[in-house]
Amino acid sequence: MDKVLARGSGSTTARSRPRTAVVSILAGGAAVAATIAVATSASAGTTLGTSAAEQGRYFGTAVAVNKLSDATYVGILNREFNMVTAENEMKWDATEPSQNQFNYSSSDRLVAHAQANGMRVRGHALAWHQQQPGWTQGLSGTALRNAMVNHITQVATHFKGKIHSWDVVNEAFDDGNGGRRDSNLQRTGNDWIEVAFRTARAADPGAKLCYNDYNTDNWTWAKTQGVYNMVKDFKARGVPIDCVGFQSHFNSGSPYPGNYRTTLQNFADLGVDVQITELDIEGSGSTQATTYGNVVKDCLAVARCNGITVWGIRDSDSWRASGTPLLFDGNGNKKAAYTSTLNALNAGGTTPPTTTPPTTTPPTTTPPTTAPPTTAPPTTAPPTTPPPAGACTATLSTNQWQGGFVTNVRVTAGGSPLNGWSVSLTLPSGSAVTNAWSAQSSGTNGLVTFRNVDYNRQVPAGGTTEFGFQGTGTAPSGTVSCTAG
Ligand code: G3I
Repeated sequence: MDKVLARGSGSTTARSRPRTAVVSILAGGAAVAATIAVATSASAGTTLGTSAAEQGRYFGTAVAVNKLSDATYVGILNREFNMVTAENEMKWDATEPSQNQFNYSSSDRLVAHAQANGMRVRGHALAWHQQQPGWTQGLSGTALRNAMVNHITQVATHFKGKIHSWDVVNEAFDDGNGGRRDSNLQRTGNDWIEVAFRTARAADPGAKLCYNDYNTDNWTWAKTQGVYNMVKDFKARGVPIDCVGFQSHFNSGSPYPGNYRTTLQNFADLGVDVQITELDIEGSGSTQATTYGNVVKDCLAVARCNGITVWGIRDSDSWRASGTPLLFDGNGNKKAAYTSTLNALNAGGTTPPTTTPPTTTPPTTTPPTTAPPTTAPPTTAPPTTPPPAGACTATLSTNQWQGGFVTNVRVTAGGSPLNGWSVSLTLPSGSAVTNAWSAQSSGTNGLVTFRNVDYNRQVPAGGTTEFGFQGTGTAPSGTVSCTAG
């Protein structure tokens, strides 16, 4: 559910006419968020969280759980912020220190603190080449792939229903050439990112699923283009991605770019939300303050920019403390950057009314315009002649690893539109379906049938829609029947 909470102190909580309302409904297990911008009179919020909420956004911070005993820290946290990200506590090394032995003590503590204080939680991060536990270093290939799938399934299931957005995959692109970063996860196969997203969707269908990275703020940079092309490809192929996180760690080597708003808007135009996820800006005084204000204005100018998270509270809490990059000084006093940020939030944006589509809606017709999928080719040949009117065909595309698989199914309508469809196939002996997305499955082994869900019931003549499922054992191949109606 995507609901902006107005919380905080003083007169702001009693304000009767918020400028923006965000309305959410849950339909068919998929979060459907409709954002309605309502023009009303301006009013000045007195905290970052309440002011952002008036704009239909959140304002968050990274939190280190061991600082929750620091009264100054907690005082600022509870007063100013309505979204939190665990700075380290939800990472792989923290949550699964030994294989298949999960530890949620710190992360549960953060979630409890957030819930008790009306804050929501960004999940960070399910799959990342850094801060992996030591045991993953001994794995590669299918063993590492299976470990990643299990990790995502377990962690996303543990926090199911409590996470606003997950950073499903973090920092998977190379800084220089716009291609993928080499890592142990990348070496399990180029499809590791989409497998991660499908696995997260299956585990927690209500969370927005984000790709998160740094140095993707400048529209002209190759890395930005590389991520953009991946997201475009994912949207075209129905890979369940809902949002892109821009870490936005700005300093002299990676400065705030003048085209930042263009970058946010161009990504949003792909049909994803955008979020500023780890903002910090090295510097001081009016220069730093101006840049903070500009970042806020850029977010507010983009309808699908959901909110801003700063990477820490006081300068002394920052991973780059010497660069004094945050909104509060080491004593917890508000800096000029704070005032500029609050003023920019209160000035508001020109966000037009917008409606975000269901987060699991796959495309119905558009073929990929970028590089073709890098997953294994379909295991059954696509039809060489179009199916007859009223009929449909289905083709499978499978990623198999030792002991498990993910299969994507493309349903193609014949010469007449489909108003409902079902696909049946027989699983090899010993195999079982463990979860499915964008279809209702019946049966887990032997003959299994997948029926359309509401939003993909209708497929235009000659059009396509996709669904998928994950399983244990050997993936199905061979005959697949598709029935219209
Ligand atoms: O808690 C231990 C402490 O017990 C030990 O004595 C000390 C010795 O080195 O290490 C402490 O852990 C450190 C941890 O931060 C908590 O302070 C780790 O070494 C250190 O590696 C870790 O750094 C974190 C870094 O990610 C790891 O890559 C930073 O706190 C965290 O702010 C930073 O966050 C990342 C985001 O996740 C992804 N984007 C970039 C961002 C900044 O690097």
